[in-house]
Parts: sequence; C-alpha cells; structure tokens
Amino acid sequence: MQIKSLLPTAFIGLTASLLCSAAPIDYDPLAEARRLNPVTGNITTPDGTVLSYRLFNHTEAGYANATPVIFVGGTGQVQTDWDTVIPHFTMKHPVLSYDNRGIGLSTVTNTSLITRQNMADDIRELSKHFGWTHIDLVGISMGAIVSNTFAASNFTDVTIDHLVLIAGAYKDSSTGPLVQQVGQWLQEFSTTPPPAQEWTSFIHKLMLACLTPDFITNNPSEISSFLNQLDQGVGRTFEKFVAQASSLGSYNMTENLKRFAMPTLIQHGTLDVGIPVQVGREMNGLIPGSKYIEYADGGHVLFETNPESVAAIVEFLDSDEQ
Ligand SMILES: *[C@@H]1O[C@H](CO)[C@@H](O)[C@H](O)[C@H]1NC(C)=O
Ligand SMILES: *[C@@H]1O[C@H](CO)[C@@H](O)[C@H](O)[C@H]1NC(C)=O
Ligand SMILES: *[C@@H]1O[C@H](CO)[C@@H](O)[C@H](O)[C@H]1NC(C)=O
Ligand SMILES: *[C@@H]1O[C@H](CO)[C@@H](O)[C@H](O)[C@H]1NC(C)=O
Ligand SMILES: *[C@@H]1O[C@H](CO)[C@@H](O)[C@H](O)[C@H]1NC(C)=O
Repeated sequence: MQIKSLLPTAFIGLTASLLCSAAPIDYDPLAEARRLNPVTGNITTPDGTVLSYRLFNHTEAGYANATPVIFVGGTGQVQTDWDTVIPHFTMKHPVLSYDNRGIGLSTVTNTSLITRQNMADDIRELSKHFGWTHIDLVGISMGAIVSNTFAASNFTDVTIDHLVLIAGAYKDSSTGPLVQQVGQWLQEFSTTPPPAQEWTSFIHKLMLACLTPDFITNNPSEISSFLNQLDQGVGRTFEKFVAQASSLGSYNMTENLKRFAMPTLIQHGTLDVGIPVQVGREMNGLIPGSKYIEYADGGHVLFETNPESVAAIVEFLDSDEQ
C-alpha cells in the first residue's frame, strides 16, 4: 500500500506542525525520573480507551494544597519523553504524565476515536480518576491544542488553575514548513509499514527538525542524549503515529480563547518550524491577561533548545496569580 493512501488528504494541513514533542533538558534523561519511583497504571474511559499513566511523588506528605501538574504530549510523543522535565516539578506538585489515546501504551478500540475532543475528555477522565478538581495543565504542540480544547469545553467538575501552552496553536491553519517536509518523508519509506530502522530514522529526523540547526551543531552530547531518550519510548510505532497524526480535524478556537479566564502562560520559539511564532503571538493577543515568553533562538521543542523555559513554567505555576 502507498503511504499516501493511508493518509487523509487533509493530513498535510492538519498535522505535521504537531508532530514533535520530546523533552530532554538536563541530559541524564533516563535516570532521574525513574528514581522518583512513579506509580504506573491505567484507566479505562467510557468509550473503552485504555490510558496508560505514571503518577510521580503522589504519596509523599506535603501535597494537601498542591495542584497536580498534568503534562499533555504532542503528536508522536510518549510519556517518557517528559522524563527530564518532570523532576523539576515533583518537589512541589504531584505530576502526571500519560500516553495520549492510541499511542505508546495507551489504546483505542477504533482509531476513529482518536479525536481532539476525545483527547481533551481524557484529561477530565484522568482528573476524575484521581479525585482532582483543580489541575495545572502543561501542553506542548498538539498537547497545547488539546489543552486549549479542554479549556474551551466548559467542564464544571475540573478547573484549570494554570494553563501553559508550549509551541501551541488554536486553529488549523496554524502550520509551519515542517508540515510539508513530514508529508514528504512519510512517502519515502521503502515499504509500508517501514522497516524498523527506517522508522527510527524518521523519528530522529522529525524530532531533530523540532530543534534548531544551531542547537544541533553546538550541543552534540545533548543531541546524543535526546536521541537516546527517544529510542527508549515505548509504543511509538508507525501505525499509531499515522492514526494519531490524522486525528485533529478542523477547528477554530478563536472565540473560545477570548473567554479563557485562567492564568495562562504562552511560550513560543521564534525559530519554530512546526507552528510559526506568529501563532503564539496571536494566542497571546486573544487570551485575556496571558503571559507570553518568546525565545529568540528557540525551536519547536522548547524544553530542549531552551531549558530556561522549564524554570519559567515552574515559576509561573508557583506564582500567586490566580
Ligand atoms: C492496565 O493495568 C492492568 C492492571 O495493572 C494491567 O493488567 C493491564 O495490562 C494494563 N493494560 C494496559 C493496556 O496497559
Ligand atoms: C516529593 O514531595 C515532597 C513534599 O512536597 C518533597 O519534599 C520531596 O522533595 C519530593 N520528592 C521528590 C523526589 O521530588
Ligand atoms: C471504526 O469506526 C468507523 C467510524 O465510526 C467505522 O466505520 C468502522 O466500522 C469501525 N471499525 C471497527 C473495526 O469497528
Ligand atoms: C463553552 O461556552 C461558550 C460560551 O457560552 C460556548 O460558546 C461554547 O460553545 C461552549 N463550549 C462547549 C464545548 O460547550
Ligand atoms: C476563525 O474564527 C475567527 C473568529 O470567529 C474568524 O475571524 C476566522 O475567520 C475563523 N477562521 C480562521 C481560519 O481563522
């Protein structure tokens, strides 16, 4: 089968900006989060989807008033891609990372159930499962779009205390040049599905494109850790990736953003080829009172190109503005 026939024609317009989301920042990525001894588990949602999660530092004392932080991944991201970021938050918050429906260790009974709204509903199901009525939501790329969708859903049982949109978007025309490139790469495999080595190379190529050329040139050891961490991700397969990448549908949250009432931090890299920086600036114009940080040398995966962006999130969550 031709790759092309696997992908809806809308694929190129909808997805490739949302593809990248691995997240190393301090470069011993494999060790630290695992030392934190997360509780692993899964929940089954009303439509039969199984969501696999890890919950960090939930049981230690001192959390009576701490808002849990939920990390929402982008297309192609799996829960371990956050492992260098997570330890920066566990000192003060319970932290949840999970695989979006249909990728990683999470499943769906039918790929047609992988939709933007269903992914937003999953955040609500996870919150309800843990008995959380207040959450801090941190999304990157597609995860930021899903977080916007959650915020636009008017759920009354789960309140967002802080919203963080990293390299995000709010309408489906928000795509950068990487979109075209990924559509082309997906058609270059020698067979469908691609041999393992070609798939690994694709993931490396994709995620590196989410950084910046200068960062790659100047940080060889970070790049090596970055790729190593990506390779440890479980369940990032071609089939799952394609199903997820085709899932967002068309959307336009312009009017919704104007009504957002929670404290919101928007981070965008000026050099982002996945979602153009203009989109971050527009979201900042739409969301009342939002805080905007633009990283002049930043790419799409800001955690990696700009580790200081993680400290900015920690500070934002712990600020009193609510
Ligand atoms: C979900 O958790 C149960 C119980 O821990 C386990 O037996 C099952 O394999 C898990 N399912 C998935 C899809 O991870
Ligand atoms: C877990 O949370 C407690 C209480 O907030 C904190 O003192 C501790 O340092 C945290 N542990 C880790 C490993 O982050
Ligand atoms: C998956 O969902 C689609 C759309 O609702 C439906 O046409 C198809 O039959 C379903 N496939 C299976 C195996 O249930
Ligand atoms: C949320 O409320 C706004 C304002 O009442 C409405 O326009 C919007 O459609 C609602 N969203 C959903 C998902 O119901
Ligand atoms: C999205 O919604 C806004 C406000 O309702 C509208 O001005 C705009 O034309 C819509 N479509 C796109 C693609 O931006």
